[in-house]
Parts: sequence; C-alpha cells; structure tokens
Amino acid sequence: MRRARTTYRCQACGAEEPKWAGRCAACEAWGSLVEERAAVAPEPSAPSQAVPLPIAEVDAAAWAPAATHLAELDRVLQGGLVPGSVTVLGGEPGIGKSTLLLQALAGLAEAGLRCLYVTAEESSQQVRLRAERLGALPPHLWLVSDTALPHLRDHIESVVPDVVAIDSIQTVFDPELSAAPGSVAQVRECAHRLVRLSKERTMSTVLVGHVTKEGSLAGPRVLEHLVDTVLSFEGERHHALRLLRAVKHRFGATDELGLFEMTDGGLESVPDPSALFLADRRPGTPGSVVAPVLEGNRPLLVEVQALVARTQLPSPRRSAQGLDGGRLALVIAVLQQHVELPFAEHDVHSVVAGGVRAVEPGADLALALALASSRRGVAIPADVVACGEVGLGGELRQVHQTARRLAEAARLGFRRAVVPFSAPLELPDIEVVRVQTLREAVQLLCDDELGRRRAS
Ligand code: TYD
Ligand code: MG
Repeated sequence: MRRARTTYRCQACGAEEPKWAGRCAACEAWGSLVEERAAVAPEPSAPSQAVPLPIAEVDAAAWAPAATHLAELDRVLQGGLVPGSVTVLGGEPGIGKSTLLLQALAGLAEAGLRCLYVTAEESSQQVRLRAERLGALPPHLWLVSDTALPHLRDHIESVVPDVVAIDSIQTVFDPELSAAPGSVAQVRECAHRLVRLSKERTMSTVLVGHVTKEGSLAGPRVLEHLVDTVLSFEGERHHALRLLRAVKHRFGATDELGLFEMTDGGLESVPDPSALFLADRRPGTPGSVVAPVLEGNRPLLVEVQALVARTQLPSPRRSAQGLDGGRLALVIAVLQQHVELPFAEHDVHSVVAGGVRAVEPGADLALALALASSRRGVAIPADVVACGEVGLGGELRQVHQTARRLAEAARLGFRRAVVPFSAPLELPDIEVVRVQTLREAVQLLCDDELGRRRAS
C-alpha cells in the first residue's frame, strides 16, 4: 500500500516544495507555502485502450465546435465549444462571468445540446431568477446547486450532459483531500478530476475562476496548463463594456477579441465597437484625436483625449487612464525636447474614452497630438486619424498592420490619416498624409490649422 506524502504548496503560484520554507523558490512570495497531503497515486492501471493510427485516418469530425450562438463568444472560441474540451472562464468578481455562462449554455441548449449548470456559489433560485430575466429557460438546460465533487459526478451521471458548467471552481471541493476549499491544492485536484471526466465522456466543461485585481488567484493561473482554453473576461466596473480574450486556446488562434455590453437584459454582442466608442465624441474640442489601434487581431477606433492645464503644484500631475503611463511620460518628454512644447508647469490628464485600453505604441502619435492640441488650444480636424509610434529622437515609426487600421478608419468616414513616412500604402477611401517627425505632425495639425483659422 502507498503512503500519502506530505508536500508544501505555494498558494500564489502553485509550485510544490518537498520542505517548508519562508519563501517560495519559484515565485519568491513570502509565507505562501502551505502543507498539503498529496493524493495517493493510483496503482498502475490496466493496459491502454488507445490505438495509434496514421494521422490522416484520425476521425476529427466528432470534434467540430458547437456554436453558443453568442456571436462574440463564438468569435473568440473560433466556432464554439469543442466536445470534450475544458475551458476556464476567468475574471474579477462581478464582471459578468455567471451571466455570460448562463447565456452561452442557453444558446447551446436551444440548439439541442444537454447542458448542466452547477452553481456552487448562488442558490438555484437565484440562478433561475437571473435566467428568467435573460429569457434563458430552454428545456435542455439543467440546474443544480452543489459544491462537493462526488455529488457533481453523480449529477453528471444522472443528467448525462454534453456540456457542464461549474460556477465557480474555487467553491468546489473534494472531501477526500485534507486541504481547505478554495486552496490551490483543492482547486487543482478538483479541476484535474473534472478534466479527466470531461475527456472520458467527451463532455465539454466550462470552469468559472475568480481572478483578483492583481491578476493572481488560486484559480485560472494554476489551471492554465491543465485545460484546453483559458478565457479572460475584463472590463471597467463603471463602464458597460466587457472584453473577452482567449489567453490560451488549443483549437485556434488567441488573438481574437470579443466585445460585449452589459445591459439590463444581460450581455449583448457589440458588432461595431468603433462606432460605439466614437458615438459621444465632440468634434472641434482641443485635446481629442482618434487612433486606430489593434486589439488582438481586431482594428478598433478609439478616441484619445488629453487635458493640459496650468498648475501650482511643484510636481505636476501626470495621469493616464487606459493608456500606458510610461508611454505618456515618453511622449511628453519628446514633445518638450523636440517640439519645444513645455509641460513643466502643467498638469496632464489623458484617457481613452469609453473604458477601453490603448496601450500599444501605435497610439503614441494620437496621444502626442492630443497633448499638443490641448496645450495649444487648437482642435485637430474631426476627419483625421493618427497612427504611429513616437521614437525618442522625435521621429515617427510605422506600426504593424497599418492598412487594416486605416481601412477601419475609412469605413467609419474618416478622410485623412496621419502616418509615419515609411508606411507603405495607398488606400482608395482615405488620404494618407505621411510625416517624418512629431514636430512635422504637430505643425501640420495644430499650427497650420491655427493659421488657416486665423486667415478665414
Ligand atoms: P455576474 O454574472 O453575477 O458576475 P460574476 O459571475 O462575474 O461575479 O454579473 C454581475 C453584474 O452584472 C451584476 O452586478 C449585475 C450585472 N448584470 C446586469 O447589469 N444585467 C443583467 O442582466 C445581469 C444578469 C447582470
Ligand atoms: Mg458569478
């Protein structure tokens, strides 16, 4: 008979150590190791049932993804849930994971798949009330409120679902394990068993996992290598916009982005996000420039806003919301040094409107122009977009996929695009204005504009 082994598990990163130590050797977190009784390894099993086949003869038809009929979720999953796959849906509490899951299961159940929703946090009544509000009461959707892993197995035995969703994995526990519910050991072991069950039964499984603000959790991170797909659901708490990304996806690319809006009737797909982000824009206001940025594979037009205001503070404020603080500092330094626009006595506030993030270098030029525009008090013409990276020498550099970004701008009615000199393209619907330096761009859009306005 094998004896259970005692090990120490880091609650931050999941690393296993044979001995206790004050600090985890893997992630260097202090005081994170917790004693854990390792499960007894099973005795060597019966001979394998698997048969090697020439690769072309492997039948893949049964693994076609099942659409959830939530357009943006299917876009991120590239078709839908693959039978037998295990997906983790991670996100901060309150972001809308349970809502997304319920709507996805309703979509699958409408299409005739048997779905089981295990709610380990809320009561069945609560979930039913939410489902009623969402209009999600299809006949093939089963619901149970339970937390113990052996019970979950029984429910799966009795319902025989094609898809099972567990909300959340942190509240499920196996009474055989000595570790506390919610600990890394419990979460990992339960997930591991559910993955095995899912593969054995060719049943798709979705596990909800809570992520804390810092992105760490006894959940998604430690599960990443166990599962096929990790989805991350994000958004600003005070905005209705929600972004869904695949952090890992064994059945396709990870660079698709899904966009939803949280409404009274649940999550709604946002098929035209650029139009949504620009809906409240007020043309003619200094400090506003539109940038075509790339989110994964998807071009999005966002409004970059800057407000430059005189200050009495000895060290002026620099704030960046939805933008990278480091890039803001860089752009300000380049404007001071190479465009001779001083900011030493000014507070700078910069945001991306609408609760989206534009942290890639492609948004530099728009940010720089927004700053210059606000500093000079001159509005940038409303039909202009700007896209390019600002270099430390004041030069502009092209960013990848400029053509796709500008095509999206043209689609939304923008007529001119300011881009770095090297950008290699001509587009039919939009005038491409090439500039070599940030100084030239500021001259063109602020100074010449001011001159024109004075002349008229
Ligand atoms: P929920 O799915 O419970 O979040 P999570 O499972 O990630 O913790 O949703 C949380 C929020 O969504 C809640 O504060 C209310 C809001 N909400 C709506 O605005 N409309 C709706 O139709 C639903 C169901 C929720
Ligand atoms: Mg929830």
